[in-house]
Amino acid sequence: MPTILNQEIHLVSRPHGIPVAANFRLVQTEVAPLQDQQVLVRNLFMSVDPYMRGRMNEGKSYVPPFELGQPLEGGAVGEVIESRAKEFKPGDVVTSSFGWREYCVALPADLHAVRREAQPLSVYLGVLGMTGMTAWAGLNLVEVKSGDVVYISGAAGAVGNVAGQLAKLRGCSVIGSAGSMEKVKFLRAECGFDAAFDYKAGPVLEQLNLEAPDGIDVYFDNVGGESLEAALSALRSHGRIIACGGISGYNEEKPRPGPSNLFNITTKRLTMKGLIVSDWLDLQGEFEKVVGGYYRAGKLKNHETVVTGIEQAVGAFLGLFQGNNTGKMVVKLT
Ligand SMILES: NC(=O)c1ccc[n+]([C@@H]2O[C@H](COP(=O)([O-])OP(=O)(O)OC[C@H]3O[C@@H](n4cnc5c(N)ncnc54)[C@H](OP(=O)(O)O)[C@@H]3O)[C@@H](O)[C@H]2O)c1
Repeated sequence: MPTILNQEIHLVSRPHGIPVAANFRLVQTEVAPLQDQQVLVRNLFMSVDPYMRGRMNEGKSYVPPFELGQPLEGGAVGEVIESRAKEFKPGDVVTSSFGWREYCVALPADLHAVRREAQPLSVYLGVLGMTGMTAWAGLNLVEVKSGDVVYISGAAGAVGNVAGQLAKLRGCSVIGSAGSMEKVKFLRAECGFDAAFDYKAGPVLEQLNLEAPDGIDVYFDNVGGESLEAALSALRSHGRIIACGGISGYNEEKPRPGPSNLFNITTKRLTMKGLIVSDWLDLQGEFEKVVGGYYRAGKLKNHETVVTGIEQAVGAFLGLFQGNNTGKMVVKLT
């Protein structure tokens, strides 16, 4: 096979506060000839996700930090080009954690075969991928059930819009918050939310109280900060919180003081559970059956914002912190 040129994105310095383009570099490499047991994959789509911001910092967390001078990692879906492993053949479609590059060389254990019929294949980064699984796992974590009033922040994003659609399928009443009136309309019209508001248009608690005058049973937290504080006030007795993410604080250089009203946990006997989606990987089969079933039946929509070209990937990542995406932010590799 002739030499294949690959483009990949490296982290070259650790961001302080909001990341900037200079923290990253687009690097050209040559793909080395395949060794026994190796598989060559051409990535078709790669994911950019808020959690990657945490991996850009030094220090221990639930996933190791990215290394400087090395390609970043993240979800990707691609097509096998060449294989020296019996498990895969050219034309197979696979997901991996070797995103941020056009080509990857992987061992079979690092690849997960998926069906080509699901189109566009970026759905494996959205509804049928990590973010869809996060939404599904979060609802299971606190046993969301019919009749619950559920409030979701970051609702128009990848996890949030799927959490809302799945909560509706469970018979819940669903309220979402997002950062523009356009997103508010999207939540109502495209995702079936019962109510939605723009968290930038006024105090979150005031807007939440208007939409849920009798309070909420469940809060799906994607952003932390003011939304978490508002939810603690709005939750009814025995309410539950899914602690999924806190994007409002990811670029803070110093830890921000927590909610002033945590004592609601005591007085209202609330439960707050932390969620890490990788804890749920043993349930991948059930996720594919349930959520894949809804998707194939047309009951669950995949919403995404697509940017094209690896040279746009850093901008797509930075755009997550400015709300540039509706649904899952993905990068199409050409
Ligand atoms: N625990 C887990 O295992 C797990 C797995 C996946 C994701 N997560 C977390 O879940 C959350 C959502 O992830 P995602 O992949 O679905 O991302 P996403 O919602 O698709 O994208 C990020 C969105 O966050 C919003 N945002 C940005 N800055 C904000 C701020 N200061 N305050 C409020 N909202 C802000 C923006 O929307 P607006 O226009 O609405 O501001 C943006 O579109 C993140 O916190 C992520 O880290 C956790």
